[in-house]
Amino acid sequence: MTNDFKNEPSSYWLDGPQIPEFASLGGSIKTDIVIVGGGIVGITAAYLLRNSGRSVTVLEGGRLLHGTTGYTTAKLSVQHGLIYDELIGTFSEEDARQYYEANRQAMDWAKSVTGELGIDCGFETRPAYLYAESSTGEQKIEKEFEAYEKLGIPGASLTKQTDLPFPIRTALKLEDQYQFHPVYFLAALVKEAQQAGVKFYENSRAKTVHMPSQVELVNGYTVHAQQVLVTSHFPFNDFEGLYFSRMRVERSYAMTLRGNFNEDMGMYINVESPTRSIRTVLDASGERLLQIGGEGHVSGRHEESTRNNYAKLRDFASSYFGTSEVTHNWSSQDLLPLDHLPYIGQMVTGMPHVFVATGFSKWGMSNGIAAAHVLSDLVLGKANPYEDLFSPTRTKLRPKGIGSFIKDNAGVAKELIKGKVTGAEANLDELGLDDGKLVRVEGEKLAAYKDDNGHVTFLKPACTHMGCDVAFNQAERSWDCPCHGSRFSYRGDVLEGPATQPLEQVHPKV
Ligand SMILES: Cc1cc2nc3c(=O)[nH]c(=O)nc-3n(C[C@H](O)[C@H](O)[C@H](O)COP(=O)(O)OP(=O)(O)OC[C@H]3O[C@@H](n4cnc5c(N)ncnc54)[C@H](O)[C@@H]3O)c2cc1C
Ligand code: FES
Repeated sequence: MTNDFKNEPSSYWLDGPQIPEFASLGGSIKTDIVIVGGGIVGITAAYLLRNSGRSVTVLEGGRLLHGTTGYTTAKLSVQHGLIYDELIGTFSEEDARQYYEANRQAMDWAKSVTGELGIDCGFETRPAYLYAESSTGEQKIEKEFEAYEKLGIPGASLTKQTDLPFPIRTALKLEDQYQFHPVYFLAALVKEAQQAGVKFYENSRAKTVHMPSQVELVNGYTVHAQQVLVTSHFPFNDFEGLYFSRMRVERSYAMTLRGNFNEDMGMYINVESPTRSIRTVLDASGERLLQIGGEGHVSGRHEESTRNNYAKLRDFASSYFGTSEVTHNWSSQDLLPLDHLPYIGQMVTGMPHVFVATGFSKWGMSNGIAAAHVLSDLVLGKANPYEDLFSPTRTKLRPKGIGSFIKDNAGVAKELIKGKVTGAEANLDELGLDDGKLVRVEGEKLAAYKDDNGHVTFLKPACTHMGCDVAFNQAERSWDCPCHGSRFSYRGDVLEGPATQPLEQVHPKV
């Protein structure tokens, strides 16, 4: 395996589209609805609410669409891995059916908006395949197929015929799924919402929500609102620790490559480990690229350099698709609730004006659009058919589900405690160029990054969210928190929440 991914990671989705730019908030303001976070959920909600008769403001901590939505793989599908058998076991057949319907409606909504607005976003209909190479995987796929049949999901079949260049044992094929370019799609929604009067502010990071619904920003200004939508991916304000103890954060890697690919190739994902997610992308130049994703791990926990994950994906493409000509490589993270259903709705009891959408388990294209529909209905006082299903305060696990939920939850608690106490320390002289490690200097544990010129930047390593020690992510040159996924640049700036405060730089005498 070779490792030549020294270049700065760059997302295919962010290379090309013109995303409208906005100033940061320069004073305190009043608005009816404030949406915190400009990813697929926040932007779709802004678009849906643009003609509601309410004033709508979007606060984005960085640049619009530069969160997970800009670093996705953008399959717009209801085939979310082995989800339906799981949901029937944990919840009920009716809940699993509702999950399917919410996502199906969301993806069809995206298709019709693409047509209505004439958005050029590479929207294509493709079959999706869940494939297995092992007998255990084959059994799982057969159970999932039974779940599809119970739920009456149309267009499903078991097959061994695929356009993959390697043999498989079986695949669950689902017709009539979509792939698209999410940034072209959502940039068009931003323009529409802006024209209808929605106000957008970038580089305007929210710090906290004060009762009943005032959002205080890191820069000291306040947005006085009637209602708040927290669409910041990981909620930046967790009043009761509700979300931190119920979600895992996983980082995954993706790349696009040049080569000769079947124009009609489907979208694939395996059921074994390591994950391989495969699709093609029709580039604006007319060239069809291959996209490979996978190599996920809990954020902030990796035994070896994260650059190796790109090399593994590239080597997979080279072995099976005969190409190693990478055009873009990127990584990002998503949130996985322990019971596999997103949290969408009133954030906590007792705060009726604050709503949240999070926990899409790497299927936030359709789930994110569904979430925006649920939230926009709730703030307008309309009933939504899926509000109970996704309610963050749900308590309706079945006995079978409760067992695994408690086990998972205990596992997470253990990991969190471990995260606070681990963090192997190295000697400062072990630090190579362009590398970061936890080191001990003058008796103090510090996070140290040495750049290509040998200059070392030292930070206090305790994450400003809840104090876990951060770990260096070489592929991104960032410090990532293993507890809830906050990320910081090597200078300490917040790249990704829930933390809202930077890591402190220190200047030891070394
Ligand atoms: C590698 C990978 C591949 C994936 N592939 C697929 C796929 O093929 N199909 C699919 O359906 N899903 C996929 N997903 C999942 C999907 O991309 C995500 O679930 C979805 O993009 C999340 O959208 P979001 O709007 O919740 O979050 P984001 O896009 O992260 O948007 C949240 C925004 O909030 C901002 N923000 C954060 N904190 C604050 C604050 N305090 N104040 C103001 N703003 C703030 C952030 O800067 C960000 O812009 C994938 C995920 C990963 C990681
Ligand atoms: S993100 Fe919670 S402690 Fe770091």
